[in-house]
Order: sequence, then C-alpha cells, then structure tokens
Amino acid sequence: YEAPYSPYDFTDKNSFAYETVLKRWPIILTNIIDTIYRRNHDFSLAIAEKDPSGEDMRITQATIDEGKAIIERIGKLKYEMARDRPLEPIQDDGEPQVEIYNTELTKLTEQGKGSWFQVPWLFSECFLYRLLRSYFVQSTHWKSYDPFLLQKQDTFKKSSRAIFQLATTMHELERDKEKLAADPANLNVIFKEMIQICLWGNATDLSMLTHLSHDDIQNLQSVGRDAQAARSEYILTDDQDKVWSHITGLKDGQVDFVLDNAGFELFTDFVFADFLVTYTPYVSKVVFHPKLLPWFVSDVTPPDFKSAISSLLSPAFFPPESEAQTTAHEQSEGAIPTPSERPESRTHLREMVTRWAGYLENGVFALSVPIDTPLGASDIKANFWTLPYPYWNMAELGPEVYNGLKNSGLVIFKGDLNFRKLTGDVRWPAWTPFREALGPLAGSFPILSLRTNKADVVVAVDKEKADKLDKSGEHWRYNGK
Ligand code: F6P
Ligand code: MG
Repeated sequence: YEAPYSPYDFTDKNSFAYETVLKRWPIILTNIIDTIYRRNHDFSLAIAEKDPSGEDMRITQATIDEGKAIIERIGKLKYEMARDRPLEPIQDDGEPQVEIYNTELTKLTEQGKGSWFQVPWLFSECFLYRLLRSYFVQSTHWKSYDPFLLQKQDTFKKSSRAIFQLATTMHELERDKEKLAADPANLNVIFKEMIQICLWGNATDLSMLTHLSHDDIQNLQSVGRDAQAARSEYILTDDQDKVWSHITGLKDGQVDFVLDNAGFELFTDFVFADFLVTYTPYVSKVVFHPKLLPWFVSDVTPPDFKSAISSLLSPAFFPPESEAQTTAHEQSEGAIPTPSERPESRTHLREMVTRWAGYLENGVFALSVPIDTPLGASDIKANFWTLPYPYWNMAELGPEVYNGLKNSGLVIFKGDLNFRKLTGDVRWPAWTPFREALGPLAGSFPILSLRTNKADVVVAVDKEKADKLDKSGEHWRYNGK
C-alpha cells in the first residue's frame, strides 16, 4: 500500500521529529550510558568490599569490561547521529529481525536516505531500539539486561498516589456492583471514566521524560473526577459513545490490548480490562500484547508485565505516604494537594490486584506469549510489534498476528507509537478520517486507538479545530496534552 503522503522525517526543523533526533535521542542515549556506568560502579565496589572468590571476581571484572565496551559503542552512535553519518547496519546477534532492518536500510541508502538526518522518523526510531538491543545481546554478561528497567520501576513507584486512589475507586465500585447492574446507564457512566483513565495513562511515557518534569507527570496522573472533567476539553477526537455501543453488542467477547508503556499506563490498562470483565457481561477475556525487547524506553516487556503484578502485591514496593514527594507545584502554588493516601487504600489495592492475579491464572486475562518469555525470544507473533513497518499491510507482513486478531471483539492500540504505525506516520491532513488513514487495515477487525499526541502525525480532527490549534502556536500535535 502506498499512502498519498510522505512519511515524517527530520527535514522540517519545526517538527517534533527534528527535536527528537537533535535533542531527545541524545538524552536517551546519555541516560543509558549513565545507567551502565552506575551499574559498573556498583560492581567495582562489590569487588573491593567483598573480595569475592576468584571465580566471582572473574565474572564481575568481565562484566565491567563489557559494560565499558557497550558505553563506548553508544558514545560512538551518539557522535555519528549528531553528525548525520550513515546508520550502521545491525550486526548479526542471533536474535530476530536483523535482516529485515538491514534490508530496509539498504533500500533507503540507495535512495540517498541512509543517514541519521535523512531517514524517515518511524523507521529510524525503531531501528535505533533494535540496534541498541544488539549491543547488549552481543555481550556475555549483559545479554538479558534491560537498560530502561530501573527507570521504569522508579517511575512506577512514584505513581503510588494515583494508584492508591484508583484502587479505592475500584473498591467502591465493587461495593455498588448490584446497584450498578440494575441500570445499564450507570455502566455507561463508569465506562467513560475507565476509558479516560486508560487514555490518560498514556500521557506519561518515559521517552517524554526528557522534557516533562516530575510535577508535570503527577499532574497528568491525577485521576479524580475533577481532574478528569478538566481534561475532557483536551480530547480532540471522542468516539466513546461509538465504542460503548460496540462493546454492548459483544457477548462474552475477547478484547485485545496492544500494550504501550509499563508502570502506571499498564496499571490503567489492567483497570480498564478489569472493568470490562468484572462489571460488564460483554467481555470475558482480555489478551495483552507486549514487546519482546526494550522498546521506546518504557514499553511493556514480558518481565515488566510479570513484575507489575508482584510489585503491586508487595507491601514494600511503594514508599509510605510520608515519604512520597509533595510536588513542587503543590508547595509553591498553595494548590490543593491530591488527597493523600487513605489507610485502607493498600488493602483495596491488594484486593484488586489479587483478582487480576486470579484472572491471569484462570485465563480471563492472558499475555499473548508465555509470561516467562525472556527478552529477545523469537516469537513470530510478538516480534511483529517491533518491526519498523506501519500496520497498513499487517495481513501480508504479519499474517500470524493478523489472523490472531481477526476474531477479536475489539483491539485497543495503546499510545502514540501504535497510532503512528496505524496511520503510517505520514503527513496526512489532520482532518483525514481515521478509517482512511488506516489504509487496507480498515475493516479487518474493530480498532480503537487511545493516544495522547506525542508526534506530528494527526488524523480525525475537525478541520476548523485543527486550523485554530495550528494558529494558536501551541504544540498541540506533540505536547502530550
Ligand atoms: O514523540 C516522542 C516519542 O518517543 C515518539 O517518538 C513515540 O512515538 C512516543 O514518544 C512514544 O510514546 P508512546 O509511549 O505513547 O508510544
Ligand atoms: Mg511507549
């Protein structure tokens, strides 16, 4: 399929694409270097302090040396990127997709688009994460290391307020279950809250952390009714009613989540999924689709998925409220602070997550791959999500995935990157109908995209609205709001 518009690339200096290659990627790469450096430092201390046996010492010293070599490669990558040098082909590391990526790179190089400022954005960003993966896989001691893991877990811990608050909301829902069931209109109201929580959960992915402060994040995560209402004016395309009428037409249906980010967003995905299976008669199974390699900083991998449940169930994972940070915004502006943790919230959280764990055990919830799947595994279906391709040609490029989704009652694509792939990341006019932007994928299975805008591509927005926003000077296409 050939779209009538060209893909976003780095040639327009006013685009977010340009800011990405110029500023955001170098920061992301520097953060990885820092993480490895700190880990190496810990290893050095361990050697000095514990004076381990010769064998351990050998492993640890080798680990440090390999860590240094990876730092060097990432440093070189940063250098080449900043100078618009050609992308280096991915070395054969024994994991899937090397050939696919390199073949595409060769094609682009033949068109004179093989260097860091000339490649299309979508392709090069996917390439970058696969290339980084290869650096780790080619080592002995860092093979299964996820350079974003600490960052993911750390930010998850900092989401405790919103998490406890949501747990209590869900507990109250449980209490009113019978009253709710008596009138389907009630369910519709709650559906809207749940789907919006799931939408705004996407506002806080970590690849954006390079320009959002911790305060910004906490503000985006506030989940109270007022906060939701205040944000509803930010919803540019709202098909909630259509979605609800579609869902109410299902009977014991299956819903698929093509996941985006770990931590808080995944938590909100679980909450929405829980609502669908626990409170409605329409859905009886939810399948979650992860990425099999560290991807766009914060995307969910199988280890992230597994540890989300155990972290949420661990009494020690979230710091006590007394240690949770008050945001600078709350301190300086005299703003009304988010309601603090209620003592019973921890019980509510345990209650809810125990239900999820049960669902995972009895198959009501399922990960699309075995939950112990290691990073880099060659699962033909799951690997589709880390290809550099738009989803237009899913039927040909990922027939296994396509056939697996064909009978789904609803496929929910979470987040910005999925949206970019659904629309091919090309320069559609903002008022292009969503269906048109989907190309040949339209009509294959019911699709819902829940996305906060973090890239230049936009579709399905009224022309008048889009023009007004473009004129406003606000970075509405990518400020995540
Ligand atoms: O725009 C920033 C960015 O890194 C995009 O390149 C990417 O599409 C997006 O963030 C990732 O966001 P999400 O986690 O919502 O897919
Ligand atoms: Mg993401």
